[in-house]
Amino acid sequence: MTNDVHRDLHEKYLTFADHEARGVSPLYESLSRAVAQTPELVELISELPLPKQQPNLIFAAYRLALGVPSSAEEFADRTVRHWQTIRENALARATQTNEPGRCATLLPVLASLPQPLALLEVGASAGLCLFPDRYAYRYGDRHIEPRKRLDHPPVFKCVVDSNVPLPSQSIEVVWRRGIDLNPLSVDDVDAMDWLRTLIWPEHVGRAQNFDRALEIARSEPCELRQGDACTDLARFVDDVPRNATLVVFHSAVLAYVSRPERQRFVDAVRCLDAVWIANEHPRVFPNIAAKSPVTPPEDKFLLSVDGAPIGFTGPHGQSLDWIR
Ligand SMILES: C[S@@+](CC[C@H](N)C(=O)[O-])C[C@H]1O[C@@H](n2cnc3c(N)ncnc32)[C@H](O)[C@@H]1O
Repeated sequence: MTNDVHRDLHEKYLTFADHEARGVSPLYESLSRAVAQTPELVELISELPLPKQQPNLIFAAYRLALGVPSSAEEFADRTVRHWQTIRENALARATQTNEPGRCATLLPVLASLPQPLALLEVGASAGLCLFPDRYAYRYGDRHIEPRKRLDHPPVFKCVVDSNVPLPSQSIEVVWRRGIDLNPLSVDDVDAMDWLRTLIWPEHVGRAQNFDRALEIARSEPCELRQGDACTDLARFVDDVPRNATLVVFHSAVLAYVSRPERQRFVDAVRCLDAVWIANEHPRVFPNIAAKSPVTPPEDKFLLSVDGAPIGFTGPHGQSLDWIR
């Protein structure tokens, strides 16, 4: 193991503390600084394959084994003592975070399309973003209830600017399907516990909404298929109802694939008779980001429709700023 590798990991954890955790999760900020400052932790984590060194994955692997640490000191001490278990958790799992709150940023676009809709989600994880019509939303004073009355639907709050074209009612979905390299079943209790563990510890409301969304998905199973969206897209849309608007959408997915594969996906989606909604970090599609009249903020996702930028979104769906 070289000093360069250790230095890179030190930097990775400091960057996470400064740019991702600060102001969002005081605990994760302190844990990432503890890693960066503790050579023994840097050495242990550096031995993992690169994709397994991510702070999110390591902290969740710790929590799965030992619960939420009460301090950075406790975390550092117990990580060293229980490294074998934490390491096994990190190697066996991935950060497939499924955040149904992202539906709040998709709803204004979905509601503007001719109804009913057929939804194909790429990189669906457990498919919780496939039920935007079943959730309730609060955009400032505007409340939107699901068309089908449900007991205790999750309520997603989203801070919007005054340019966002808010719908007056929810949407109608007649067909829904997800594709994922590794689809997760909502009935797999262990996998769902892991997804809940990926939610940052202070985000209690997100965890509650996750559980409510999970109940809906369990009561209304939808089809999740295993596949690679970059190579297989067309074969998943052969039975879309003819009267529905097909929407292919994805959030926080294409950062995980190489640039040539991303382009392959774009070429494939463009060949479909579909509306394409992308909600990804601005670096994922630099050519779309370049069309934005304002510089995309680093801490937001870029929402685009058919390759045109239309908004910046909070990564968990907590905000939507419209691009005029
Ligand atoms: C961070 S999760 C996001 C899940 C969901 N889109 C959401 O917003 O909650 C990314 C998901 O994309 C999937 N994924 C990554 N590359 C993919 C590909 N080429 N084809 C299909 N799924 C992919 C991963 O397996 C993972 O479940």
